[in-house]
Amino acid sequence: MSRPRVFSGIQPTADSFHLGNYLGAVRQWVALQDTHDAFYCVVDLHALTLPYDPALLPRRSRVAAAQLLAAGLDPDRCTLFVQSHVAEHAELCWMLGCLTGFGEANRMTQFKDKSSRDGHDQASVGLFTYPVLQAADILLYQADQVPVGEDQRQHLELSRALANRFNHRFGQTFTPPQPYILAEVAKIYDLQDPAAKMSKSSSSPQGIIDVLDSPEAIRRKIARAVTDAGTEVRADPEAKPGVTNLLRIYSALSGEPVAAVETRYHGAGYGAFKKDLAELVVATFAAVREKTHQLMADQAALDRLLAHGAARARRAAAPTMAAARERMGLLKAAGSG
Ligand code: AMP
Ligand code: TRP
Repeated sequence: MSRPRVFSGIQPTADSFHLGNYLGAVRQWVALQDTHDAFYCVVDLHALTLPYDPALLPRRSRVAAAQLLAAGLDPDRCTLFVQSHVAEHAELCWMLGCLTGFGEANRMTQFKDKSSRDGHDQASVGLFTYPVLQAADILLYQADQVPVGEDQRQHLELSRALANRFNHRFGQTFTPPQPYILAEVAKIYDLQDPAAKMSKSSSSPQGIIDVLDSPEAIRRKIARAVTDAGTEVRADPEAKPGVTNLLRIYSALSGEPVAAVETRYHGAGYGAFKKDLAELVVATFAAVREKTHQLMADQAALDRLLAHGAARARRAAAPTMAAARERMGLLKAAGSG
């Protein structure tokens, strides 16, 4: 029997991924390549939906790919590519956009959040159709599962709805995808504001740990992380959100249950716990950081690897795209095979 397929994407919108991206998404991507037929994409078209600097984007796309490889993606066991290298994503986005209700797109909470941030007038149509492009990414590959953080759940519901709607109207074509969300790491919080998710667009630099941060920066940020009243290292999301977030991070990185970590630090106070947590994060990211720098030093090799991934992705997408065009009634160009 063939393996189930996974697809996921990550935006090249910063010079480094952060701990939330790493625990919520990237680590699952690495694990799933052993059990699934995996497609992973640096979604640079999505990165055009908010103000950005075109001079920085190529480097950010490369450093995104480099970090994914450094974290453990193996181009022999998965397909890693850049979204804009496969034109079918934009083409299918248009077709699915014609099946998406205006009100339906308008209900997306990420759109509401992002468009209200800079004032509604500043938001682009691209930001509005962002989730439709995401649906195209996923449906193009007939993905069964999509590993993401909790913030993407609503977008995946739209992807499922669009797959079902297309199938119903035009005939069975797309697999409705399932979310793959691990509860314990689905939402990592800002170190300075444990009520908000860690986010590259809204967290302060002190609230975010970047994968490529120096060991000193990681130690400083964890030492200054907001903790709660009292001294006990104990998980309690209501009364102790700061400590609870740190405990979940510790548990995810060490592989121990939260309860075991609580027991170990019983009576030890926040200081000792934070110190050990900092060393755990430093140790986890040291190798990723070094490997990322190595990969970035040979840009030509990295670009070849991504071109190879894009060629594989195009081959995988071709039959689905041909079927979708035909079923929607688009006339086939003569001589196009
Ligand atoms: P983005 O950087 O928005 O492209 O997100 C990349 C991936 O990281 C997505 O799967 C997100 O759901 C996930 N993610 C982003 N922020 C967090 C967070 N604070 N906690 C857990 N997962 C996150
Ligand atoms: N919207 C996703 C995020 O912000 C990124 C993304 C784009 C994605 N296309 C995707 C995730 C397809 C999963 C599948 O994290």
